Amino acid sequence: MAYRMFEGKDHASIYQKYRFTPPDELRAVILQYLDKQKGRPHLLAVDVGCGTGQNSRLFAPNFQEVVGVDISECQLEEARAVPGYPNVSYRKGTAEELPFADGSVDLLTAASAAHWFDQSKFLTEANRVLKPKGCMALLGFSDSDTKLHYKNCGEKLNQIYEEVKQVLIPYTSNPVAVSEAKLKELYSAIPYPEKERIEGIQTTSLVPVWKVLGLIETWSMFQAYKKKEPQAAASLLLRTQQRFLEEMGVTSPDTEIEYAMEYFCVLASKS
Ligand SMILES: C[S@@+](CC[C@H](N)C(=O)[O-])C[C@H]1O[C@@H](n2cnc3c(N)ncnc32)[C@H](O)[C@@H]1O
Repeated sequence: MAYRMFEGKDHASIYQKYRFTPPDELRAVILQYLDKQKGRPHLLAVDVGCGTGQNSRLFAPNFQEVVGVDISECQLEEARAVPGYPNVSYRKGTAEELPFADGSVDLLTAASAAHWFDQSKFLTEANRVLKPKGCMALLGFSDSDTKLHYKNCGEKLNQIYEEVKQVLIPYTSNPVAVSEAKLKELYSAIPYPEKERIEGIQTTSLVPVWKVLGLIETWSMFQAYKKKEPQAAASLLLRTQQRFLEEMGVTSPDTEIEYAMEYFCVLASKS
């Protein structure tokens, strides 16, 4: 079953504003794998479920052409509005019916997206469009591994963050659980003998408190909550920001916090 979320204009614009680009270290791991399995040239990379294109643009320097594909026109509009990437383009399409010829793709990526796809249809399509020895890289991060830190109040900040997640549990859909399990099931379903799963790629960024709130706002479960209880959702964000600031002993939401994430990646090469 495919899911239709992230489609609204507002959701797309907060995606552009708040979502992280995956770390360079992870890009290097993926490129090394592609080099080892298929070798060069690196002609075409396709980023499925590209959203506002952060991961598509990450691979721009390494490929002749990168195409981001998404089911949501609003997400693509935001992606297309980012200037300065002449070899990156965006197409409307689905993971279950990819708009590419058989055997034409060197690398197929999906960043924080594969858990939303119909897994068996996606794997069939991936197999069709990949070149022989072409690779897929399905990456993401688990929110349960995300940790906040500021001076000596990291523990308390994480507790507040955890409480927000608890409020949102009833609004969490199955695919989010698939992602939180770091795509173990999807990994098992990949029909190629050459595959691996990597965990624990750590990255820490300094982000203002308002951005932590913005990231929460991008979550599908927050959006589901907001749809049902707009007032309560708005006050959850406001209250959470106040609690963060009080705990940190500061007044400005521009104050930066350490935001530590742990990425995982499923890598596989077509036989
Ligand atoms: C959680 S967002 C991730 C976006 C982006 N890759 C990132 O890392 O920020 C998931 C994206 O997958 C898209 N999506 C969901 N199901 C899809 C499908 N079946 N085919 C193509 N895109 C899909 C959504 O529209 C959304 O933009």
